[in-house]
Amino acid sequence: MRIIRAKDYDDMSRKAANIISAQMIMKPNCVLGLATGSTPIGVYGQLVSHYQEGDLDFSGITTVNLDEYRGISRDNEQSYYYFMHDNLFSKVNIDLKRTFLPDGMEPDSAKACQDYDRVIAETGGVDLQLLGLGHNGHIGFNEPGPIFKAQTHCVKLAESTIKANRRFFASEEEVPKEAYTMGIKTIMQAKKILVVVSGADKAPILKKVIYGEIAPDVQASVLQLHGDVTVVADEAALSEI
Ligand code: GLP
Repeated sequence: MRIIRAKDYDDMSRKAANIISAQMIMKPNCVLGLATGSTPIGVYGQLVSHYQEGDLDFSGITTVNLDEYRGISRDNEQSYYYFMHDNLFSKVNIDLKRTFLPDGMEPDSAKACQDYDRVIAETGGVDLQLLGLGHNGHIGFNEPGPIFKAQTHCVKLAESTIKANRRFFASEEEVPKEAYTMGIKTIMQAKKILVVVSGADKAPILKKVIYGEIAPDVQASVLQLHGDVTVVADEAALSEI
């Protein structure tokens, strides 16, 4: 794993956006795997700035997102579809027909998962996968558990994740309890992986991810087995390393 030390959140965002920009310049028709959560918001802001300055072209890019809440419609402000449009897709010249997320409104979970795996396969595979890190070490919504799940699957969100998401919803009942997420095999098949981590609250889990045992109770620890992972973390997140 390559670890890049950033001064703070802004520096982390700029460094990560520069890595994604380099990928897009080197391969203008590349497939980007994208993530949600608060950590990558600054990265998307930087990419939009690069686009506005005329330095980036999204017209040939395909995107596949890691996950989506189950049972939430695209026009719900908390859906990941909405998040991606709000933070990136509506602000750059991307072809919306080539932006993909799991279909949160598909009630047949087996179908939703199979459809999404087919979509990912049809893109030809992810060139660069952006990841955030959950406090419990989850990537996408691959929550701690007894195994690593390979393919797209429907997850019951961990209690801690539901609590962490509570701040985005008006009431506890509205917080989704399930989500569709890309599996670990699909994430690991990305040619390159870029993990962004910010804040002292992520320092203990980041230490486990990088130096701990490779085990499914910290799903991101599996990244130690990938040949091309770059972690861009700020000093607060790296404070235990
Ligand atoms: C959600 C997403 C993850 C993300 C995580 C961390 O659970 N499904 O992909 O990495 O949140 O979020 P944050 O960056 O807000 O800490």
